[in-house]
Amino acid sequence: MNSEKIDQLLNWINDLSDKTEAEVEELRVKLLGKKGEITQLFDEFRTILPEQKREFGQRLNILKKAAQEKIEELREAAASVCSPEKSSCLDTTMPGNSLDLGSRHPISLTREEIINIFKKFGYCVAEGPEIEDDWHVFGALNFPPEHPARDMQDTFFISTDENRVLLRTHTSSVQVRTMEKQQPPIRVICPGRVFRNEAISARAHCIFHQIEGLYIDENVSFADLKQAILLFAKEMFGESTQIRLRPSYFPFTEPSAEVDVSCNICKGKGCNICKGTGWLEIMGCGMVDPNVLEASGIDSKKYSGFAFGMGVERIAMLKWQVKDLRLYFENDVRFLREFETL
Ligand code: DAH
Repeated sequence: MNSEKIDQLLNWINDLSDKTEAEVEELRVKLLGKKGEITQLFDEFRTILPEQKREFGQRLNILKKAAQEKIEELREAAASVCSPEKSSCLDTTMPGNSLDLGSRHPISLTREEIINIFKKFGYCVAEGPEIEDDWHVFGALNFPPEHPARDMQDTFFISTDENRVLLRTHTSSVQVRTMEKQQPPIRVICPGRVFRNEAISARAHCIFHQIEGLYIDENVSFADLKQAILLFAKEMFGESTQIRLRPSYFPFTEPSAEVDVSCNICKGKGCNICKGTGWLEIMGCGMVDPNVLEASGIDSKKYSGFAFGMGVERIAMLKWQVKDLRLYFENDVRFLREFETL
């Protein structure tokens, strides 16, 4: 009788670990089945000399017992492992995993809020292409040929041949497209993405969002512009908000102004958000330059109008005191979740 084989099998059995239920069954057949290795050793046992029976009998019994115990142990371990196929492991009374609901992006929330305010004033939404030509972004808006915005450093050009194709740097281009299509009265609000060749930092990004406004009719005055902006500021930042207009320059408006709102954090006393001034800049505006009206086929003797343009990120930053523009683009869910309930 092969004594080494008994020892080898015993060692092998003792070293066995981690099996699935199917593998344990295979193991049982291999060792203890009708043609199993241990069964065969017992068959052999019948043929050995009587004086060897005592020794081998004991060793075979030890081997068989070890195999049975090991198989039982592995079977129990396999049964306690939960797998999706085992319906017995499913506890249907456990609470389910809740699915995370998405939330509105702060830029969408702000854009919508601004649009809704102007809709109440009777403005319609107008949209235009992000890929534009020189005429709609610069030419029709009275930008002189040598204006720095027309430079590669500020604008992303797609082609630089005669009909320059570029990514719009502001939504003022939609003013032009609207005036080309429609005669006054015009009252539109133009939300959209704009692109500028800027290094990305906490305060600047190469993609951002603007909302442009345009109002053209007979006898529209600067007082109308002031009133429209004051009403908007009160709706957006609170009834006690005040505005201040500072003279400025844009090629497409004359006169032009920059609009500040009273700081709603310190109520005008001066804090680190308004850098101690009590005022926060929110937009540019002005009376549409007669050249701009004429360039789009509107009679500047009969009609006048005002325009304004604001950055959505800027307004959202002021509303929620987000200090780093990049947060709006990174889609870090920890940031986005802060706007879940809004
Ligand atoms: N287009 C300007 C910009 O991107 C913003 C602007 C200023 C728009 C004055 C206007 C305006 O309509 O009147 O900086």
